[in-house]
Amino acid sequence: MNRITKLDLKKEYNQWFDSPFYHILYKNRDYNEAEEFVKNILKYLKLKKGSSILDAACGKGRHSIIIEKLGYNVLGIDLSKNSIKEAKKSENINLKFKIHDISVPLKKKFDAVFNLFTSFGYHSKKKDVEILNTLEKNIKNEGIGLIDFFNIDKIKKELIREENIKKDKIKFKIKRKVHNNQVIKNINFNFNSVEYNFTEKVNALKLSDFKKYFNKTNLIITEVFGDYQLNKFKPENSPRLIILFKKKSQPNK
Ligand SMILES: C[S@@+](CC[C@H](N)C(=O)[O-])C[C@H]1O[C@@H](n2cnc3c(N)ncnc32)[C@H](O)[C@@H]1O
Repeated sequence: MNRITKLDLKKEYNQWFDSPFYHILYKNRDYNEAEEFVKNILKYLKLKKGSSILDAACGKGRHSIIIEKLGYNVLGIDLSKNSIKEAKKSENINLKFKIHDISVPLKKKFDAVFNLFTSFGYHSKKKDVEILNTLEKNIKNEGIGLIDFFNIDKIKKELIREENIKKDKIKFKIKRKVHNNQVIKNINFNFNSVEYNFTEKVNALKLSDFKKYFNKTNLIITEVFGDYQLNKFKPENSPRLIILFKKKSQPNK
């Protein structure tokens, strides 16, 4: 284990997301898929053009950029300095990015708060609930929230335990397992004769776990989809677990 990794393990936020290697390994993240989902969900929500949207844990901002182009006012936040630095290259008057922890409320409230592509569950269960409470604080009274998470049942069934991926001449050795209610990914590689070893851990949350979390908040689940085409969620084969929610205080329309 190298120096960087030892240092990082002490911190709760996983610096893997901020390392240049994360961006090398995932540089081909799917923009088409992101665009299709964003278009489908915005159409479904009937959000008026000009509405304010928070992309909580935006990474390099691939969803934020598309949402702004569709006519919305977007703030993307993420803890990864490198991701935000990259995202900032696309900033304009209606599209802003900021380094910020999604568990800390912002001063502004939004018409919609999105947490996309498994950007939840990286912390303790207590912190997961804290994040939901913060999302609630960031949503306007009439607003809506959305979490796009993996479907753990499908992940477990189709888990690729070992995989080697070569990107930019780096040979990444990836090992995956589900252990202690977490999906654990070990990423190992050698760069400039230094051995690197990073670990990514995500809580293996089922819909029932999310329901328990939501019961501890002032939020209520309104709809659950299973994919980016917005088909109903089926635990046995849906690729995603997409949860729409609103404030409990908001009357039914
Ligand atoms: C799987 S990536 C997805 C990024 C982006 N939503 C996308 O689809 O490209 C998860 C992101 O969550 C961010 N993240 C994890 N915990 C966070 C926190 N507490 N506050 C802000 N960002 C966080 C990471 O830095 C990383 O960019």
